[in-house]
Parts: sequence; structure tokens; C-alpha cells
Amino acid sequence: MQVWKDYQEKNKDRFLEELLALLRIPSVSAKSEHKPDMLACAEAVKQRLIEAGVDKAEIHQTAGHPIVYAEKITDPSKPTVLVYGHYDVQPVEPLDLWNSGPFDPTIIDGKIFARGSCDDKGQFYMHVKALETLIQTNTLENNIKFCIEGEEEVGSPNLSTYVKANTELLKADCVLISDTALISLDTPSLDIGLRGLSYIEVEVTGPNRDLHSGVYGGAVANPITILAKMIASLHDENNHITIPGFYEAVLESSTEERALMAEAPFNEAEYKDDLGVRELWGEAGYSTNERTGIRPTLELNGIWGGYTGEGAKTVLPSKAFAKISARLVPNQGSDKITELLINHFHAIAPPYVTVKATLHHGGEPYLTPIDSSAYKAAAKAMETTFGKTPIPVRGGGSIPICSLFEKELDCKVVLMGFGLDSDNLHSPNEKFDLANFYKGIETIPYFHKYFEG
Ligand code: BES
Ligand code: MN
Ligand code: MN
Repeated sequence: MQVWKDYQEKNKDRFLEELLALLRIPSVSAKSEHKPDMLACAEAVKQRLIEAGVDKAEIHQTAGHPIVYAEKITDPSKPTVLVYGHYDVQPVEPLDLWNSGPFDPTIIDGKIFARGSCDDKGQFYMHVKALETLIQTNTLENNIKFCIEGEEEVGSPNLSTYVKANTELLKADCVLISDTALISLDTPSLDIGLRGLSYIEVEVTGPNRDLHSGVYGGAVANPITILAKMIASLHDENNHITIPGFYEAVLESSTEERALMAEAPFNEAEYKDDLGVRELWGEAGYSTNERTGIRPTLELNGIWGGYTGEGAKTVLPSKAFAKISARLVPNQGSDKITELLINHFHAIAPPYVTVKATLHHGGEPYLTPIDSSAYKAAAKAMETTFGKTPIPVRGGGSIPICSLFEKELDCKVVLMGFGLDSDNLHSPNEKFDLANFYKGIETIPYFHKYFEG
């Protein structure tokens, strides 16, 4: 649509400036010291939505960080699209690995470097600017609601209560989310699934206090050694997970599905080169894309214990710790897998130690069909602006609220993301390409035009 193109071309510098201002707010949900920044960010998001032309925008308090809700109701008899996103970001450490300040957005070679540039401020902001485009050009025909939360990066602990209590307010014909990646601007894709999550922490205690490693070493088990052995036993020689029952509920993909998945372009040499590894690692019998898409995995997220300060200390520590998470696929249930993980750690603990295992957070996997009206509208919108049909792919990350949205609002979730896997999400030097930002703003209005409910 030429009017959209003209409007966006005229305003593109302002769109970018507004995003940069949002990126300057350090909205790290995991850290209590950032609570005032979380409020400031929610307020800024609300203001930008008001300026974009919504009928109403409100800040809804929760037991944690607030949710920004907004709506533009054009005609109640027309379809309604609920846009979900998150204004919170991951912690920025290690700071010394950033080439510019994480909250001092810097543009180099057409890429915005900042925490939250891609995940998810840059992506949900495309929807705010798409809405502005539709309103300013008098071309908005359906209804658009926004639910932008501040706790996605900490597992959305309060969002399910909010959604369950507000199903009327949030009622929609589909949920549209831009918080995932494309294969590339040359090869558009749409995520048809995301993995779930079970996240636990394990504490292993040996002797009742830290000991001199010379006086006691050799006579008392070292909890770090024991924890390391327990962790090493979680994968077998084929890199299958050894926890009994772990794979029981896994929905196997059909041969046809796997053949289709293999058609997505993938360059293993480039992939390895980008990551600086000589060989890839993973479950025997599956390709790289399958290992990150259709298969469940188990990762160590952190491990510590004993002396890690400057210099050396000869200590046999009392305790060792690990943070461990499993990525889940349909139809694995998060609660069930968490229980398996916790029980397994107790079961394999040798008598030299005691084990305490506790839940951090979880989330259910999501899978959506490609014949829903919402998926079709997204595919058609991408066809229009990329000149190519998007490839359906399975995303490896998690957005825990997807399955709850589908259940509570009785509608499908479309994952139309515009990031790239190489955007350094959760890492130092997170970035978002300007071309992807503008491509999203260009594409989203077509989704609203094509979506018929
Ligand atoms: N946007 C990501 C999820 C994502 C990234 C999906 C890339 C697909 C491709 C989201 O913000 C995220 O990081 N989610 C967490 C969830 C967790 C904190 C409960 C994740 O996947 O680790
Ligand atoms: Mn995200
Ligand atoms: Mn994230």
C-alpha cells in the first residue's frame, strides 16, 4: 500500500529515535534495584501507545512488575487482534564484553546495539508504529489490543493470573507476537512452535562446614566432585537424556514433517564459524535444526561452589550448586518434568551428600497449525513484503504464555518475529538490524488487512 509506504518513509527517523529512547531505560526485570526503571518503562510504553492513537492505555499493577494494556476499537463487529510483547530485558552482565553501553543504544553498520533492541522492545515497538501507520492513513479496519508485560524474562509469574482474571478485556480472535527470529530477510519464516521450560536449582551439601583440603581431603567426599558426576550422568554416550520417563510424552514428528523441516536452508560451516566451535554436539539421530526445534534438551545454566575469588584457597567446600533447565516439546508437561528432574537428583545422590532441588520457573511448549486464519494472514503479509512464502519452523526458545493464551482466550497465537538468531539475545552486544525493524513495520499492517478472524 503506497500510503503506508509514504507515511513510514516520511517518519522513519522519528520511529527510530523513539525506539532508542525506550532502549535507554534499563528495564531489567530480574533485579529489584531496577524497579523504578520498570515503572518508568511501563509509563513510556503507555505514552507511546497513546501518541500512536489508541482509545485507551492503562497500567495494570500485578504482584510483580506492571502490565501495559491498550486498545483501539474500530468496530466491535470486526475481528480483534491482541498484540503481546514484553518491555523487560535480561540482565546485561558480563558488562566488560559489551562494545558500547547496553543502555546507550549505538548504531553501527545499520544495526542497533543495545539490551532489548531485538528482545523485545525493538520488536513490540514495530507494532506500535504499525498501528500509528494504520490510524494516520485511515486504513485501520479491525480492532487492536496490546498487552505488553514486564516479567517475560523471569518466567511471567503473574501473567497467567492476570489473563485468567481478564479474559473479557483481552478477548481476541488471535494473538500476534513478534518475539522470535526469521531465518533471514532473504528467507522469511514463521515459528509454528516454541519449546517449554522446566528450570530448577540444585544444592548439594557434603560436610557441615568448609574444610582444610589437606587435613580432610581424601577422607570426605567433595560436593563439587559429586555434583559434577551427577551432572555428567544426565546424558549418555549418544547425548540422550538419562532421566527415566523424560521422553515418555514427547510428540514425535512424522517423517513428512522432518523432510519439510530439512528444506529450510542451513549452512553448518557458517553456523560453526559464527559460534567459534570446531564441532557441533547433540542428540544422535537428529539434525541441528531438529535438536533445537523438535527435541527436548537439558542445559546447565550455571554451576558454582567453593572458592572462586582471587588467588588460590585450599578448601574442601561444604556446598556446591547448579542451575539446570530442560527445554520441552509438545506434549511434555512442565510440572511433570520438573517433578522428574527433582526426584531424579534425589534418587542419584550418593550417601556422602544431601541434595536439595527446587523449582525456579516453568512454561508449557506451544505448537500451532499452519491452516488457521491467523497463520494464513501472517504468511500472506510476509509474501506481500518479502516476495516469498515464509517457511514454517519450530523455534527453540520459550514464550511461556502462548499455550495459556490459546486456552484462556480460545484463539490461535501467531509468532511473526523479525529478529535473527545471530542477534545475541541474552548475550553481550545484543543487536537488531534497522532493516528488520523497518521490515516489521512494513509487514504488520498487511497482517491486519488480511486477517479476517
Ligand atoms: N524472545 C525470547 C524467546 C525466543 C527467542 C523464542 C528466540 C524463539 C526464538 C524470550 O524473551 C525468552 O528469552 N524467553 C525465555 C523464557 C524464560 C525466561 C521463561 C527463554 O526462552 O529462555
Ligand atoms: Mn523475548
Ligand atoms: Mn528473552
